[in-house]
Amino acid sequence: MCGIIGIASNKSVSMNIINSLKKLEYRGYDSAGIATLTNNTINEKKCSGRVEELEKILFKNPSEGNVGIGHVRWATHGIPNTLNAHPHSSEKVSVVHNGIIENSDELKKTLEEKGFKFKSETDTEVITLLVTESLKKSDPLESVFKTLKKLKGSFALGIIFKNHTDIIIGARRGSPLAVGYSKEENYLGSDSYALKSMTNKISYLDDGEICVLSKSEISFFDANQNKINKKIHIVSDDENTADKGDYKNFMSKEIFEQPNTAKKCVSEYIDSLKKDINIYNFPITPGEIEKIILIGCGTAYHSCLVAKYWFEELTSIEVEIDIASEFRYRNLKFSTKNLYIFVSQSGETADTAAALEICKKNKVKTCSVVNVVESTIARNSDWVLPIHAGPEIGVASTKAFLGQLIVLYILCLKLSSVRNDIDKKSYNINIENLKKLPDAIAKTLKSEGDIQIMAQEFLKARGSMFLGRGSSFPIALEGALKLKELSYLHAEGYPAGEMKHGPLALIEEGLPVIVIAPKDKYFEKTLSNTQEVIARGGKIFFITDIKKRLLSTNIRLRLRVPHLDNFLSPILLTIPLQLLAYHVALLKSCDIDKPRNLAKSVTVE
Ligand code: F6R
Repeated sequence: MCGIIGIASNKSVSMNIINSLKKLEYRGYDSAGIATLTNNTINEKKCSGRVEELEKILFKNPSEGNVGIGHVRWATHGIPNTLNAHPHSSEKVSVVHNGIIENSDELKKTLEEKGFKFKSETDTEVITLLVTESLKKSDPLESVFKTLKKLKGSFALGIIFKNHTDIIIGARRGSPLAVGYSKEENYLGSDSYALKSMTNKISYLDDGEICVLSKSEISFFDANQNKINKKIHIVSDDENTADKGDYKNFMSKEIFEQPNTAKKCVSEYIDSLKKDINIYNFPITPGEIEKIILIGCGTAYHSCLVAKYWFEELTSIEVEIDIASEFRYRNLKFSTKNLYIFVSQSGETADTAAALEICKKNKVKTCSVVNVVESTIARNSDWVLPIHAGPEIGVASTKAFLGQLIVLYILCLKLSSVRNDIDKKSYNINIENLKKLPDAIAKTLKSEGDIQIMAQEFLKARGSMFLGRGSSFPIALEGALKLKELSYLHAEGYPAGEMKHGPLALIEEGLPVIVIAPKDKYFEKTLSNTQEVIARGGKIFFITDIKKRLLSTNIRLRLRVPHLDNFLSPILLTIPLQLLAYHVALLKSCDIDKPRNLAKSVTVE
């Protein structure tokens, strides 16, 4: 989390820094700051709150300078206030930091003993003061190298120097950092997204690397201070899609974009002529894969959970799923016959990237299902399956979840076909149904009116519950997560069959309970579980794909989504839940694209 930008130019940089920070706000938005260099002075300006506030400060009191750094923060050490906002400057240097310095307390104590005074509660300020101390005897690059040796933890850094007004030094360990090239200026950024409006020529730093950039040149060094060359990537120009258009916010745009997301993704992977799936170059011969392990965080983990049901149903491969923050610390038995699949929209999630790193160390084959193909996770995995969803800006993931599900389902179908786990006829039918998915999503989105009515009923609720069985269970989890993060209303997702083992105690008169019940092998069982909730006063919202009107009494609202086949039901059943969370949040006037306490790209552990 947190966003870093740095620009070295032959013209004033502050306005471009502000514009880039606005793009980076999805990474953190509790405070913002900028530092530029003019006449051997560091001009530092910062505030709590959004970049808009910083812009107002600069409007009243502009910051000149052709070299500068900026930051948007997602607080880890110290509350989100002006003092803790980045940059953190001494009389000699100014630092922006993304990540966590794990030994900051120790380092702070040593610096205080030497007489250094701290202004903030952050871990970052130790970096500022360590570099300041080193500068007494060393040049900027040497000072940064010396400082990095003392740091434990993860970081991406941008540093400017009062007495070296033409350079910015960047460093990476654990947290992503990119540089961008242009004719008369060069850039530093915590991801390529912030740089894309200025350049499409980007290099990514690897762990341990340092870069020194001026307006005309960028040099790279490895951890041993050797000069190195970096590959320049030309990144795809999908910038235009990162615009709200006529929508109130990015989230509604991204929800309503889903028919197109599905269309694009399906057309990338399905060869309509050959009636086959275009997935080749498996890192392990498909017939030899013994186990698939799917790993992700949050919403991405939910897509792994849905995929588990698909792989179990359609292939003979054993499947395990894991939350990345758990996976990375477990004592696992790795096998070269297993395929480890990492699911991540951003491709920068720290826990998922660390879990991938562990797999690499154990020399097992890895695959990533990502939206950002230039990301760390994509670059570090053996095999990449992009979801082609385009930039997702709303912090709550919607279209990327849909893309992850589609790609995982397509991968599952392909594996079932090449391993002869599925007959040709069923394979063809499943592919045909996939092609109908975009239209079915568009039809499902038409339920928005009913959902607006449903959302009213959540306004006075003290909590809510989402129930499902089989592949609808992860959809219940996802529905509850979306409602929690957007509307701040407590929501629990449960397998419907678990209710009587405890959660039934939570049911009281009027508690909204969303039951997700497609016509599958669990349907009758889910109906029985629903009756148990009704008997205890729960207010039922029943989301299904069956036509027949069942349980007409005691159901507050029954919503029907189109039916294609049982495998695609979880995808369609997700849409009303996204809309529900969106409309409850809208009625409660919550900040839809930037829910409190959250950030889009979780690059700290
Ligand atoms: C919830 C949400 C998060 C992310 C999670 C993983 O709406 O967006 O739970 O899914 O932080 O992020 P990625 O997919 O970027 O690894």
